[in-house]
Amino acid sequence: MAKYLVSGGAGFIGSHLCRRLIAEGHAVRVLDNLSSGKRANLEGVEVDWVEGDIRDEALLARALQGIEFVHHHAAIASVAVSVNQPLLEQEVNLVGTLRVLEAARQAGVRRVVFAASAAAYGNNPESPKREEMRPEPASPYGLSKVAGEYYCRIYSEVFGLETVCLRYFNVFGPRQDPTSPYSGVISLFARRLLLGQRPVIQGDGEQSRDFVYVEDVVQANLRASQVSQAGGEIYNIGCGRSTTIKELAGQLNQLLGAGLEPEFSPARPGDVRRSLADISRARAGLGYAPAFGLAEGLERTLEWMRSADLKG
Ligand SMILES: NC(=O)c1ccc[n+]([C@@H]2O[C@H](COP(=O)([O-])OP(=O)(O)OC[C@H]3O[C@@H](n4cnc5c(N)ncnc54)[C@H](O)[C@@H]3O)[C@@H](O)[C@H]2O)c1
Repeated sequence: MAKYLVSGGAGFIGSHLCRRLIAEGHAVRVLDNLSSGKRANLEGVEVDWVEGDIRDEALLARALQGIEFVHHHAAIASVAVSVNQPLLEQEVNLVGTLRVLEAARQAGVRRVVFAASAAAYGNNPESPKREEMRPEPASPYGLSKVAGEYYCRIYSEVFGLETVCLRYFNVFGPRQDPTSPYSGVISLFARRLLLGQRPVIQGDGEQSRDFVYVEDVVQANLRASQVSQAGGEIYNIGCGRSTTIKELAGQLNQLLGAGLEPEFSPARPGDVRRSLADISRARAGLGYAPAFGLAEGLERTLEWMRSADLKG
């Protein structure tokens, strides 16, 4: 049994990770300010709750006492919010990550796994994305995630704190908030279809994404904290397949038997055209192998959404 801290553990991805760690017999502490996460996401599981902000130095130090592994997920997880409130976003995502690393170093933590992002690649047109490509973040959010990776590397090299950065692509699954306008496209489309409304495609729908099911992201996290040679590395975590937004709308329509043709609205400025992960480094270095295809992941997500509160 190891002792884990999951920052942002009440959020979408963090709550899945907490549940799995507990199922595997580990002790889990959650540090979350509940700004987008919910206590209900961890209903029925026993975690040690620390409700508060990663920007609170004293609280962070307390939360890290006795911890061996940190999975750092607390962040403002939205490109749009980062564009509207760049200073707040940098305080939480960039300075917040630095605070977590510094507090982890002081607490003698063994390893920090950082929730990085494919936003690091920005509008670099090369496809698939490989970790050694030069980062080209196109938003304050992308920048804060890249800067977090650099801080992780510096903490590894200068202070000997082991860190692993996982660049998630488009994560989806149960408990991704369908009522938040900043949510992932799958929960937004599925919500509209379930409410009998047409999904709204921004742009021509030919833009493509690598959708990765949340349980595969959990698998990557477990391996990132446990595989000894993973320290100091950056890994893409996707499914390794791309799907256009139009295809996605079609597949959801079919699974729900909805027959609601999508509407089109203007493209979002700066929207990435193609996003596909080369996951060979994660396969080789972590032994990561995605277990869920899009269809199976969508079915599980829809099963949860049918009983979720879609009105918010
Ligand atoms: N969902 C994706 O597709 C995706 C893709 C790439 C990277 N990520 C990263 O993965 C992580 C988790 O994302 P998610 O989709 O689960 O988002 P989420 O919003 O559901 O989870 C973030 C959690 O962090 C908490 N939080 C926010 N600010 C905090 C603060 N200052 N102090 C303490 N807690 C705070 C929130 O309450 C929430 O529980 C984030 O770091 C995000 O940037 C997500």
